[in-house]
Amino acid sequence: MPREVREVVFVDGVRTPFGKAGGMYAETRADDLVIRCIRELMRRNPQLPPDRVDEVAIAATTQIGDQGLTIGRTAALLSGLPKTVPGYAIDRMCAGAMTAVTNVAGGIAMGAYDVAIAGGVEHMGRHPMGEGVDPNPRIIAEKLVDPSALVMGSTAENLHDRLPQITKERADRYGLNSQLKTAKAYADGKLQPDLVPVALRSAEQGWGLATADEAPRETSMEKLATLKTPFRPHGRVTAGNAAGLNDGATAALLASEDTARELGLPVAMRMVSYGFVGVEPEIMGYGPIPSTEKALKKAGLTIGDIGLFELNEAFAIQVLAFLDHYGIADDDPRVNPWGGAIAIGHPLASSGVRLMTQLARHFAEHPEVRYGLTAMCIGIGMGGTVIWENPNWDGEAK
Ligand SMILES: CC(C)(COP(=O)(O)OP(=O)(O)OC[C@H]1O[C@@H](n2cnc3c(N)ncnc32)[C@H](O)[C@@H]1OP(=O)(O)O)[C@@H](O)C(=O)NCCC(=O)NCCS
Repeated sequence: MPREVREVVFVDGVRTPFGKAGGMYAETRADDLVIRCIRELMRRNPQLPPDRVDEVAIAATTQIGDQGLTIGRTAALLSGLPKTVPGYAIDRMCAGAMTAVTNVAGGIAMGAYDVAIAGGVEHMGRHPMGEGVDPNPRIIAEKLVDPSALVMGSTAENLHDRLPQITKERADRYGLNSQLKTAKAYADGKLQPDLVPVALRSAEQGWGLATADEAPRETSMEKLATLKTPFRPHGRVTAGNAAGLNDGATAALLASEDTARELGLPVAMRMVSYGFVGVEPEIMGYGPIPSTEKALKKAGLTIGDIGLFELNEAFAIQVLAFLDHYGIADDDPRVNPWGGAIAIGHPLASSGVRLMTQLARHFAEHPEVRYGLTAMCIGIGMGGTVIWENPNWDGEAK
């Protein structure tokens, strides 16, 4: 049967404020965070009949307890979507939500879906990294990976070893800059429009409402220099130049461009290409470089065509490795204009959609930019990149 590939568009994205693990969401269920996001997407897009949602793909890294039980399906039911709307769970560690987006995009492109919801959640307070894992001893015994590959902070130290030009001072300055950019974005009201307020209930403190991220903080180069290096004595990775341990959820609406036009849904971004790759697991932070090469090649673009970058800041070192590779300055204004995960937080499987939601907002503000990219490193040595086109592009490519 002859078939045309359909254009896939990012319609809208939302997220909960991100909490610190064990912080404001200590007594909130992980699935309730996702449900808030799905409900908010439907509220913000009333022109979308709920029965036109063809799929709900929700990622979580630790799929047990309130992040288990095929969370895409249970969250869809609890969000009030019709029982006829299917859902599933997905895992690619930090790139869970990114993979949820690329998976449903594949389904949209080949005509299996018209509209889908993709997102992710991680409640690292309820489900600490590594909870319940049982790695096959052969993976170490047969030297398939170095033991340090299973501790993300150690992989960041390993990357520092390989790239000595990226000093601790550079990593700290990058971390400080992330905090400053996020503080400015909050002051300018940039992040708030895509945050879903979440009702909180604490046995001790009573009711509350989460309306802003919990992790951002004031800091200075002097304070950063004093922080411990928990992954290696006299190392370079600290709480100030790494993403923290966080709780939060995201969700996005994707559609075929034709369906978006038919239903009157906004077109915030058009998907151009994507790429996932594997790298040596012990330097997993290197992943976004080859994944970006792959995505650029598939799109027939070069890095010079990309006008805006949303890079997940798992660790300053891995973003700096990416920037050095492409000859981009550490403080280039095209990169993470509103700061990143070092300030905002990184609830693992949710973060990919946060990057996309922010890029969509940047596109609206920057019609002079035609292409942007979202990229992230992924545990056990992978990278993922999605390239997007700005539908607001005014034809004057920069
Ligand atoms: C780095 C890490 C171990 C730190 O964990 P932690 O010790 O629980 O972090 P905290 O928030 O308690 O910070 C540690 C200390 O640094 C301080 N601190 C943190 N960030 C700071 C900043 N930007 N400026 C100044 N001080 C800061 C804290 O106040 C705390 O001080 P204290 O010990 O006096 O209380 C943890 O965040 C981590 O593992 N991050 C990586 C997560 C990860 O691997 N994600 C997946 C990526 S692939």
